Amino acid sequence: MSAESTAPAVTMDAIVALAKRRGFVFQSSEIYGGLNGFFDYGPLGSELKKNIRDCWWNDMVRRRDDVVGIESSIIMHPKVWEASGHVAGFTDPLVDCKVSKQRYRADQLFFSPVVVDGQTVGYVSALESEKTAADLQAAAESFKRKKAIQGALAPVAPRDFTEAKPEEIPLIPSPATGEPGSLTEPRAFNMMFETHVGPMRDSSAVAYLRPETAQGMFVDFKNVVDTGRVKLPFGIAQIGKSFRNEITPRNFIFRSREFEQMEMEYFISEDADWDTCHKEWIEWCRQWLISVGLPETHLSLYAHPKEKLAFYSKGTVDIMFRYPFGVQELWGIAARGNYDLTQHANASGKPMEYFDEASKKKFVPHVIEPAVGVDRIFLAVLCAGYAEEDVKDDKGNVEKRTVLRLSPRIAPVKVAVLPLLKNKEALTARAKELYRKLQRRYAVFYDEAGAIGRRYRRQDEIGTPWCVTIDFETIEKDGTFTLRERDSMTQKRITEADLFALLEAQVF
Ligand code: GAP
Repeated sequence: MSAESTAPAVTMDAIVALAKRRGFVFQSSEIYGGLNGFFDYGPLGSELKKNIRDCWWNDMVRRRDDVVGIESSIIMHPKVWEASGHVAGFTDPLVDCKVSKQRYRADQLFFSPVVVDGQTVGYVSALESEKTAADLQAAAESFKRKKAIQGALAPVAPRDFTEAKPEEIPLIPSPATGEPGSLTEPRAFNMMFETHVGPMRDSSAVAYLRPETAQGMFVDFKNVVDTGRVKLPFGIAQIGKSFRNEITPRNFIFRSREFEQMEMEYFISEDADWDTCHKEWIEWCRQWLISVGLPETHLSLYAHPKEKLAFYSKGTVDIMFRYPFGVQELWGIAARGNYDLTQHANASGKPMEYFDEASKKKFVPHVIEPAVGVDRIFLAVLCAGYAEEDVKDDKGNVEKRTVLRLSPRIAPVKVAVLPLLKNKEALTARAKELYRKLQRRYAVFYDEAGAIGRRYRRQDEIGTPWCVTIDFETIEKDGTFTLRERDSMTQKRITEADLFALLEAQVF
């Protein structure tokens, strides 16, 4: 068998279709029409997600001597979110279209003046995409044509709606209607989900679903120091659900309203070299992404401009991933100074200082915070791993195969066990014996239905790295199996001991 990738770059449609067809991701409450910004993970999706979480937890917490884990509650005291600044400032700029009732995030709504022969003759708008400028240019050309304006059209100059001057706002067309005059000025929209704790529904009972897991680590800082035998520098890590009432959830699971975060707060001394520490964590995170199968070529770094940082922030670098819809943030690594601990010390009246035995000094530690979304890694590995290929069999016949090149570390099924024939008791009995043995350690799949080639294809599509076929050589000769490798499609004979050794080396 040989393979040739003939397909163009992967599309989101192909990813969404595969995710649904093979039980990775479903729309939440689909039978009721779905709920925008919420998703369910199916049998294979929940395995894949669990593997991503487990790899992160093992590498970040268990295999490091300087990081411990916690699990804090999703609903915390409302004062936590006042002290952290979320109640006042966790907002996105919202724009309403008064005619269509559509809502937009102002920083994702782009516009440009239409300039002909040096004169502004109108405005065009487009929603952010990987081709925003091209969309605006096409809209400007269409505007000029429709209005039958003669002269030379200048290239568009895209700006986002937060940059619109007050006098420009009534002139910018709504993306929903194509007409100007219906868009409001941007206003701050708080993204926290509110709820009430206890039987009363008045303002004293208001609480929030956490918009990030990070505050759990700050609020529990003292508890961990007092009970965990930790010494600076050390980290507190957590994996858990976060909730944001995003104005425009989009790009499938990339930006949703309920998602999962893996965050770690790495506390360092007030006079530590934060810049070096920051850089080390950026590289650690990058290497970790590569270790779960993301190609280095799809990753890049984006340093937030100094003037856009919060006043307490010393620097933030995002690891970006090339998704089909553009290069977008995957993992943010922020140097946050000692802002959060100081805020909680002031608001709660409880000291957040750390006593350093060596220097005999007391201070509020500073922090480096790597924060990543599980769902974004999930989407990245699907996009990077997906391929449609033309494959030739031994007789030269060409057929299509869809393959998901997932790292064995995170693949939902590690091995498929396939008896060559369904109706040969000796083959199925040996296959089931091996299947049960493997199942004690790994997620494995037993499949006896259909031609062997079709069974391989089914496994290729869900990312199973290896198939093991139990054939006549197994039962009549030397006990070895055929091991078929997903990516190269090569086959070789392997003993049971070597199969377990292979898994031990590759699945960790
Ligand atoms: N504690 C810092 C913090 O929460 P963030 O950049 O807002 O920082 C961290 O979020 C990571 O969480 C992002 O890099 C992204 O991977 C993920 N994330 C944020 N909002 C998300 C959303 N609406 N849907 C899915 N993932 C999201």
